[in-house]
Amino acid sequence: MRMPLLPRRWADTLPDEWKRIGRDTAPLALTAPSVVAEFEEHVARFVGVPSAAALASGRQGMRLILEHLGVGPGHEVIVPAYTLKDLIPLVQGTGAAVIPADVDLRTLNVTPESVRARYSPKTRAVIVLHAFGNPAPVDAIVAEADTRGVAVVEDCAHSLGATLNGRQTGSFGYAGFYSFEPTKPVNTYGGGMVVSHDPDLIRFIREKTANCRYDPSVFLQKAAAARKERLMMRSAMAWPVLALMSFPAVKDWVSRAYRNRQSVPSGDLRYTAMQAVLGTLKLETLPARLARRRALAEQLRARLRPEIRLQEVLDGADAAWYFCVALLPRRAAPVRTRLLLRHWVDAAVEDEIADECARYLNRADCPNVVDIYPHALAVPFFDGITEAQIARVARALNAAAAR
Ligand SMILES: Cc1ncc(COP(=O)(O)O)c(C=O)c1O
Repeated sequence: MRMPLLPRRWADTLPDEWKRIGRDTAPLALTAPSVVAEFEEHVARFVGVPSAAALASGRQGMRLILEHLGVGPGHEVIVPAYTLKDLIPLVQGTGAAVIPADVDLRTLNVTPESVRARYSPKTRAVIVLHAFGNPAPVDAIVAEADTRGVAVVEDCAHSLGATLNGRQTGSFGYAGFYSFEPTKPVNTYGGGMVVSHDPDLIRFIREKTANCRYDPSVFLQKAAAARKERLMMRSAMAWPVLALMSFPAVKDWVSRAYRNRQSVPSGDLRYTAMQAVLGTLKLETLPARLARRRALAEQLRARLRPEIRLQEVLDGADAAWYFCVALLPRRAAPVRTRLLLRHWVDAAVEDEIADECARYLNRADCPNVVDIYPHALAVPFFDGITEAQIARVARALNAAAAR
């Protein structure tokens, strides 16, 4: 008998989530504004900012923040060289030029130095990602940006609940945006939130989203897709499907299809009350879930061979471990194939983790990303993964990555 497949991710779900979604969606539509407003208040209090505004996606949040900042033609926006490529056309859509800053080889985040190297008189904003939920040194980046009159926007798509020196990510910069996609720390099957110390920005976002459509079908489709993925992962279909994905052409096709699905939330959709209900319940359990993730990530780190390095966390930081990314001493793609074929352990590589944005922008001056991209491997990591499964991941990876 083969051991069961260990998937790389699971959408976080409440015990009776599917039933709850079916039962509550229609009646909650009637009370939408107050339920969403309550969730916004919960998030603002949790992050430690005066206010927050929910919207259709994290990307829509980023776009509206840049619009409110007046970013446009003749300006430059600094972005991490290792992040989601889909963000770049959105920044370019403002008319500004996108300038990538290299990331640190150990933390996979931008640094004060790599950002400093990209400032010019045209710089209007810096987008700082807390990559895979691991806090970037955003305090130092904000301190310098303030002296230059540049706004820092925190990309907290992965990092709800992560802290730096006891402060939540999202509370350092001019504004932060979160994503509530299915595998994010708080899953509401899509949607996003902007937080800020600036009440004008939050007012601007509320005005911009005031006439959005109420259409729960997009959210329901995402919930159904996450449910199907879970059933598929438990079925005999999972292994052949994942084995096929170790062929680069198939992987590229599946990655594209997955991203297309993720990009469903259009700018004119309203964040629904049912999503806000799920978000409020999941936010309550977030600190305990993250504490468990941190303990398990450190168990994994201790079990790996020294030449396999897990993403490093800064002193004074607590990561959210949205993804658990290891840097291997060799190319990750063949290791991923061995993990699946020999150990029945699913893992992600290359653009399934993040994109080489410097290359996408035709820049050859971000050498660390060139090094990281082929060597990064995201191992199975999700709420509910057990200590025994973490031990299994370590054994499998130690064997599969050996020369
Ligand atoms: C780094 C990063 N930023 C922003 C986003 C956008 O979030 P959303 O899908 O809610 O638009 C994502 C989504 O995965 C992401 O990975």
